Amino acid sequence: MPSSLSHSIRLALCMALVFLQLSGTSGSLLNCHKMCICASNIVSCSKMNLTTIPTALPKYTAVLDLSYNDITRLRAEWTTYKLPQLHNLLLSHNGLHFISSEAFIYVKQLRYLDLSSNNLRQLDEVIFEPLEHLEVLLLYNNHISQIDRTAFSGLNSLQKLYLSQNKVSRFPLELVKDKSRLDNLILLDVSSNQIKVLPTQELQTLPAWIKNGLYFHNNPLLCDCELYSLLAHWYIRKLNSAQDFRDDYTCVMPGQEKKVERVFELNNHMNCSSFKEANEEAYLEQTLTLPCDTKHRNMSKTWVLPGNVVVSPGSNQTAKVLKDGSLQISPIREEDSGNYTCYAISESFNETLYIKVTVHNFTLNGNGETLNTAYTTLVGCLASVVLVLIYLYLTPCRCFCCPGHSKSKSHHEDSIHSSMLSATPTHEDLATKAELNRHVAFIDPKDLQGQNGKVNPNGDEDLDEEALQGKDQRKKSVAESISSVFSDTPIVV
Ligand SMILES: *[C@@H]1O[C@H](CO)[C@@H](O)[C@H](O)[C@H]1NC(C)=O
Ligand SMILES: *[C@@H]1O[C@H](CO)[C@@H](O)[C@H](O)[C@H]1NC(C)=O
Ligand SMILES: *[C@@H]1O[C@H](CO)[C@@H](O)[C@H](O)[C@H]1NC(C)=O
Ligand SMILES: *[C@@H]1O[C@H](CO)[C@@H](O)[C@H](O)[C@H]1NC(C)=O
Ligand SMILES: *[C@@H]1O[C@H](CO)[C@@H](O)[C@H](O)[C@H]1NC(C)=O
Ligand SMILES: *[C@@H]1O[C@H](CO)[C@@H](O)[C@H](O)[C@H]1NC(C)=O
Ligand SMILES: *[C@@H]1O[C@H](CO)[C@@H](O)[C@H](O)[C@H]1NC(C)=O
Repeated sequence: MPSSLSHSIRLALCMALVFLQLSGTSGSLLNCHKMCICASNIVSCSKMNLTTIPTALPKYTAVLDLSYNDITRLRAEWTTYKLPQLHNLLLSHNGLHFISSEAFIYVKQLRYLDLSSNNLRQLDEVIFEPLEHLEVLLLYNNHISQIDRTAFSGLNSLQKLYLSQNKVSRFPLELVKDKSRLDNLILLDVSSNQIKVLPTQELQTLPAWIKNGLYFHNNPLLCDCELYSLLAHWYIRKLNSAQDFRDDYTCVMPGQEKKVERVFELNNHMNCSSFKEANEEAYLEQTLTLPCDTKHRNMSKTWVLPGNVVVSPGSNQTAKVLKDGSLQISPIREEDSGNYTCYAISESFNETLYIKVTVHNFTLNGNGETLNTAYTTLVGCLASVVLVLIYLYLTPCRCFCCPGHSKSKSHHEDSIHSSMLSATPTHEDLATKAELNRHVAFIDPKDLQGQNGKVNPNGDEDLDEEALQGKDQRKKSVAESISSVFSDTPIVV
């Protein structure tokens, strides 16, 4: 009895094997004559109608080209052993719609991964996590609409991420923003997607070497003057993203007609004030730090003071160059007014930045001004506290009658808390903050209106999808952008 059982199992296995062999090329061993071209450490199986990845790949494979096949799933077991030399994996044009969360555990040395022109719809959490050496990731021309916030975490070497021509509707700010950002990312392409709202203020504060490679043209962005001044600034700074695609930055005008305009012409259509590079202003005896915000990283920077004086280390100039290349002048004197120049050089690029500094002929300390600003801040704070109290306690609807009210109450308390904290600047920052970075966050009711799902600048082609998930998502992203305005923007009254 047992022997016949094992016999039939063996038979079944055998038949399964035969079946596998017969069913096209699936699971087949690498054949370097018919199926692929093997040139030392390169294995090229492009355009071979493969439905699975050949097995028994040599361990020394460095480049594996599987583009233009019919591999629709990238399973965990496509390789069952480590391929420690593999640094290029090409899987474009395959109709790929599934990637196992364990697909990359045996190919941790990958530096270049091409998943472009496939059928991917979403990027799940931490799928790329093992790829800590990956430098370039191509995901353009898929159908990606959902990107988990942790989808790209662990990609600590990633330099270039191409996400254009997908259906992304949320700008993935977490990839470039301070704490969570991928440290080596110098190119992020989210052009030709479905992004309607950009976190403009956050983008504006990024260093120029990130903005230089931040492409977001050809999205159904809502027109507003903030968008205009953002791009006008990038253009004046000659950032590649704004210069190279100047005419492809379009936006949708608010209102019924949904007219599409070029962002760089918005000053004509929306009366946006034309953008001017702001001068630095300072007060006597203050410490002023001038950034040398170059388009490229790791440049060696030298500063030239007004009157063509070169700043040199070790001299007893009041100006000195800090580690990050910015210039610190302390204490600043009236005669320090003038044009400052930063020359930045590296092996392949040269850049020159000019900053005009105006020093006012009085100090902030001991002058009425400090008191004044503090006073207005205090009054502003008190006023907002009173307003919130009025809102909380004098509105007809109290906690017990509407569920969810208590939530919004605590939210308000949080935000006022943080605004009180941030509204008490140290007196050193005061001048710069008050004079240069004065920005008060308003949420334009027009913007919110535009996102209620009525607006569909793309026509009706994506109506179903919007009905399925778009609305929820958009609401979520609006809520997020609002709360981030509250928590991150210093409120200067
Ligand atoms: C792949 O399939 C197409 C159509 O089925 C056929 O014309 C072509 O010759 C095949 N290519 C190879 C390399 O087998
Ligand atoms: C732009 O400003 C001018 C004058 O200030 C005004 O006449 C015009 O109506 C404004 N246009 C728009 C679109 O607001
Ligand atoms: C830039 O310099 C830092 C240290 O100064 C170094 O760790 C980093 O690798 C450099 N980056 C490039 C792209 O050279
Ligand atoms: C250093 O500063 C002192 C006083 O500010 C000045 O008298 C002196 O000439 C300076 N020395 C040099 C080498 O510039
Ligand atoms: C500073 O530079 C601007 C142009 O960038 C020039 O018009 C101005 O005259 C310069 N000022 C001084 C004091 O050199
Ligand atoms: C940078 O400038 C220096 C001196 O002005 C010049 O000799 C060098 O060729 C320039 N390098 C590049 C890459 O433009
Ligand atoms: C700056 O102020 C001082 C005293 O307050 C005055 O003597 C000096 O003339 C002023 N300088 C300029 C350029 O106005």
